[in-house]
Amino acid sequence: MKMSILNSVSLAVLLVAGATAHAAVTITVQTDQPGAVLNRGMWGIFFEDINLGADGGLYAELVKNRSFEFPDALMGWEVLGATSGVEVRDEKPFSTVQPHYVRVQSGTGIANEGFRGIGVKAGESYDFSTQVRATAGSPALEIKLVDAAGKILASGSLKNFTAGWSLKKVTLRPNATETKAHLQVTVVGGGALDLDMVSLFPQNTWKNRPGGLRADMVQMLADLKPGFMRFPGGCIVEGHTLAQRYQWKTTIGPVAERKLIMNRWNDEFKHRPTPDYYQSFGLGFYEYFQLCEDIGASPLPILNCGMACQFNSGELVPLDQLDPYIQDALDLIEFANGPVTSAWGAKRAALGHPMPFNLKMLGVGNEQWDQQYIERYAKFHQVLKAQHPEIKLVSAAGPSPNDEHFKYAWPELRKLHADIVDEHCYANPLWFFENTHRYDNYDRNGPKVFFGEYAAQSDKVVSTNNENNLECALAEAACMTGLEHNGDVVRMASYAPLFAHVEGWQWKPDLIWTDNLRSYGTPNYYVQKLFANNPGNVTVPVKLDAGGASTFFISATRDYDSGDTILKVVNAGNSLVEASLNFTGAQNLASKARVFTLAGSLSDENSFASPKKIFPVESKLEIPGPQFEYLFPPDSLTVLRLKAN
Ligand code: AHR
Repeated sequence: MKMSILNSVSLAVLLVAGATAHAAVTITVQTDQPGAVLNRGMWGIFFEDINLGADGGLYAELVKNRSFEFPDALMGWEVLGATSGVEVRDEKPFSTVQPHYVRVQSGTGIANEGFRGIGVKAGESYDFSTQVRATAGSPALEIKLVDAAGKILASGSLKNFTAGWSLKKVTLRPNATETKAHLQVTVVGGGALDLDMVSLFPQNTWKNRPGGLRADMVQMLADLKPGFMRFPGGCIVEGHTLAQRYQWKTTIGPVAERKLIMNRWNDEFKHRPTPDYYQSFGLGFYEYFQLCEDIGASPLPILNCGMACQFNSGELVPLDQLDPYIQDALDLIEFANGPVTSAWGAKRAALGHPMPFNLKMLGVGNEQWDQQYIERYAKFHQVLKAQHPEIKLVSAAGPSPNDEHFKYAWPELRKLHADIVDEHCYANPLWFFENTHRYDNYDRNGPKVFFGEYAAQSDKVVSTNNENNLECALAEAACMTGLEHNGDVVRMASYAPLFAHVEGWQWKPDLIWTDNLRSYGTPNYYVQKLFANNPGNVTVPVKLDAGGASTFFISATRDYDSGDTILKVVNAGNSLVEASLNFTGAQNLASKARVFTLAGSLSDENSFASPKKIFPVESKLEIPGPQFEYLFPPDSLTVLRLKAN
């Protein structure tokens, strides 16, 4: 196992400006020669409800199956007391869209297990709410949070119910922190109650929005400063069948009216079954747009194009029946951008956002391929380009960056004058190191590229042995220098998947790991952060003379906001490399540069026990002028920022 020989302290000592001139590597950055104009927001995020990313993750609801709409209506619930005391019913429901509810007789109750338990923190406030209808007598409702051993952490009670449905709330304040709490709801005092939409939310959500998102997880996204956010996937856009596809219109408005469906990751992998995985759509399209706005990311929604997942049923909407799908896209544009006087703009305003969401891009289909896709894309393209030339369309090129589907898609999309082609790549680290020049020869006049899903796989695709280690992170970083260097063609890039719950994942590797209370970034996350926090407006030419060594990867940009020239260097070799740096044309150079270093052993990973084992270290570097020597640690990504005119 290779060990990093530098830590932040020794690094500072080694960064001796003007040190010995036996550099193995020479890097020349032509600071005064602006090159290709970059998309400053090229580094973005890909969000999908996979690995408990939304339900059980970002969406802060702590009750699983709150609406009793899972096919097994009591999945996630345990009956307290006689089983005959709890009955699932659907006559005169609270919501006709989600008609099931429970009738609970006095002396019995129901307990919810949450998503792999309920995470609560001592002293924080949790809002319990439920729709209630009294059916007999005048009972009361006792609500308790209990720990894994059954000890009471918090309790509350509700009474005075009516014969019609009404919303009742009580706040619970646990006296201890617990990751595996359960919620108990018991009817007492005689009679019976009907209950629906039984819910528990932390008050401490992102921006303290009631019924909102998990603050720690959104903060991880905000810290990335992503240029865009793609949502809601991923294969869940497609569904196993068309009936299970994602339909954005069913995800807005009152949560009880958002019809629950199975999450396609529920039973996708026999080796990682997740039978309790459903989509409540509590995190729906309005919340996605709001989240994008909160974190400064340009929204990139992806819509179903009339095709179910080609890895599953491959079900197709006939070409002459695509109109409703295309209409969904037109309506979405109006929902996001239309005036409040328009039908869908009015709905946005009614939800609390009269101002437009400034949608500029839309994806047509997720990871589709072959003629079936091209024919359907062409129909969308024709209508959307005629009615909304201001919206850039993202089109699919299949699941691989060089298979027969990919080779078929590109010429076809070129013929159609597609705007942006979404390339996907899950491959071993070597692929990423070997493909740093992939885009050097791409046609500059054709469609642009969105490197929309990528992640280095330490084992192989969909293997449960894949790890988020430094080796994979550096492979991605090396490839990203090539993406940035070709930023005139590659306009956007996003790692995938984004989130994974340590007890509820289906797919590895993932950028951010969570449990019921915490989240941590992987080495891959810090690579993304270093790139996205250090973007540029233009590339600048950079020349590398590594004397034949092939373990150095570089890109350089200039950032007009800060006036900095930014050099990103991956040293993927296992030894310290002395480099001679020359920033030609740099005037009025500041005497100190900022340096961010991510280094360690190739097998290093972060974890809850050691969340910052691999973490970027910031230091200041005294520089004598535009030419100096620098020591690049083994197995490292370094970002150098020099202020110069
Ligand atoms: O990121 C996981 C999956 O990989 C996505 O849902 C899909 O688009 C790709 O196959």
